[in-house]
Amino acid sequence: MKKTAAIVVLAMGLGRLAFPQDPVAVRDTIAELRQEIARLDLLYHQAGESTVSDAEYDRLRQRLGELERTYPAEAAAVPALAGFGDDRNGQTRTRRHREPMLSLDKAYTEAELRAFHSRLAKRFGLEDLEYVVEPKYDGLAVSLVYAKGRLAQAITRGNGAEGDDITAAVRAIPGVPRKLRGGDAPNLIEVRGEIFVPLADFGRVNAERERAGESPFASPRALAVGTVRQSDPGEVASRGLQVVCFGVGACEPDTKLPGTQTELTGWLRACGLPVVGTTWPARGEIELVRAVAEAGRERSRLGGPTDGVVIKVNSRALQSAAGLGVSAPRWAVAYKFAPERSETRLLGVRIQVGRTGVLSPVAELSPVVLGGSTVTRATLHNRAEIARRDLRIGDTVIVEKAGDVIPAVVGVNLALRPPGARVFTFPRKCPECRAEVEVGETVVRCLNWTCPAQLRRRLEHFASKACVDIPGLGPALIDRLVATGWVTDLPDLYRLRREDLLTLNRNGDKSVDRLLEAIERSKKAELWRFIHGLGLPKVGAAAAKELARRHGSLEALAAADPRCGDLVAAFVARGVQPALATPIDGPLAGRTFVLTGTLVGLTREQAEEKIEAAGGRVAGAVSGKTHFVVAGAEPGAKLTRARELGIAVLDEAAFLRMLEGR
Ligand code: IVH
Repeated sequence: MKKTAAIVVLAMGLGRLAFPQDPVAVRDTIAELRQEIARLDLLYHQAGESTVSDAEYDRLRQRLGELERTYPAEAAAVPALAGFGDDRNGQTRTRRHREPMLSLDKAYTEAELRAFHSRLAKRFGLEDLEYVVEPKYDGLAVSLVYAKGRLAQAITRGNGAEGDDITAAVRAIPGVPRKLRGGDAPNLIEVRGEIFVPLADFGRVNAERERAGESPFASPRALAVGTVRQSDPGEVASRGLQVVCFGVGACEPDTKLPGTQTELTGWLRACGLPVVGTTWPARGEIELVRAVAEAGRERSRLGGPTDGVVIKVNSRALQSAAGLGVSAPRWAVAYKFAPERSETRLLGVRIQVGRTGVLSPVAELSPVVLGGSTVTRATLHNRAEIARRDLRIGDTVIVEKAGDVIPAVVGVNLALRPPGARVFTFPRKCPECRAEVEVGETVVRCLNWTCPAQLRRRLEHFASKACVDIPGLGPALIDRLVATGWVTDLPDLYRLRREDLLTLNRNGDKSVDRLLEAIERSKKAELWRFIHGLGLPKVGAAAAKELARRHGSLEALAAADPRCGDLVAAFVARGVQPALATPIDGPLAGRTFVLTGTLVGLTREQAEEKIEAAGGRVAGAVSGKTHFVVAGAEPGAKLTRARELGIAVLDEAAFLRMLEGR
């Protein structure tokens, strides 16, 4: 444990160990670094989680590289790093890339950026090289293969040579055209891009999850990876995934491709593909440094998530001439913006109990300003993570907030450990109900179904919009209903009395009446929402819809699934009669559209009706929440705005195809 902590400190540049000389120590260090990198790789590629920043990760790799080069014999004596940087999960059918999917070299400082320019300027004997600076989207890399203009496959990067087939999930992402626009698509083209979740959708999904007592995704990237890796296309569509395209792998014939990166982006856009919106041109070193700084200032406007910029030589001829380095092209570099981080005191660890009983540790911090807001709490992930980092109460910890992700404790400054720092022992009993907990490998869980913390979360979930929707039944009221003992399980909601509620509610008769009406109305909520609201393990919205379709009534469900027999009987006894309406779950569910210009085949009203009938929403103005802008003839400023924000624009034909779910 100690050794791992030492690596963490080393990686954060807080301590510098001289190269060990003793061969045994060298082998140990190499083995530890490899193990740590393998662990981080696994988390990153399979769960989309980053427990250390990219810069720290790269420093670990750099340190490993240095040791391997300096001590090749020692390096050969310890197990190699298997599956390094590989996102294949071993359970999915793999496909070969026709041209390898490379990664990018990274730069973290202005000096490294200038060095990138100097190398190229020297190579070409040209000081005023032309660059284009693009946002670097943080999600997962994808290769979209179009055969004769039709989407044939979507493949993850994998090990660069072959990746996992994620075609089904990608087809469910609105905005990925099934067919390229324009009559003269190449016979075959690999379009390279990134699948990501905009910050607004990340916030929405996490808010829904928290209401439902589920653990939030740690970052937009984790959400994108987690969603693509699951099989339900309905769920994929509801999570706000988007694709942005920025490059081309194989292209047959390649005569169709234009001569610069900027034109390539325009060409991809003309094919109907979503592309990077804002870019910053630059000529020569001074402009390049300036453009990167400007991109850094503007990036919060882009709707993200971005973790930096990619700087590319604009001329594709020069790109080819620059060629490839070991695993990355020499004509591009990723410049990573430093995530904001700060040191502060760990005052305590609070345990939160989720709807399903999972005990999550939350760091209570001495307030610290990070990314423009004051942070007093940060995630500590889980029990294993606290132990792994050897965190103690009273320690000075490093807190990081990259973009809009939840602040996280990423390390500890051991040099500042005070003498009285206390080891945190994970409770053996639920802090809410004192029941014994089940201690798993990483997760600790309270198994008491009547635990008040779980009950509160269950009620919040049940009453949420995604379930039976009882506006007015918020956390504060739920706390009191549980504290008074009037509600000991979900069905109790249906025997609340007006006079009791009046004693709890300071807002007067009207709001109590509204609440009672909402509760009454919820008795007829759609069956799948009811089932979702029960909060059964592993039954999310998609599974609930499937169960509703299969069973058709609560009673039939109870007969088939003993987990909910008593619960259902209590609901039915209290007059609950869910409706078996078909949920609005069309191809456009969860998508927001803005219309501009005149459509030929249908009026504005008809278009709006069709969008709504297919489950989508129509908004009047373009914002970060807009998923698509449908542009007819003579489009207005909305189109310009959409382009600025990098929002997918559909012409009438593409829009009609999308309505048909093609
Ligand atoms: S160009 C030869 N442009 O970052 C590699 N990549 O760290 C060409 N990424 O694999 C990649 N935004 O998944 C490029 N505007 C952008 C990007 C971008 C995000 C991802 C991509 C790439 C990774 C490299």
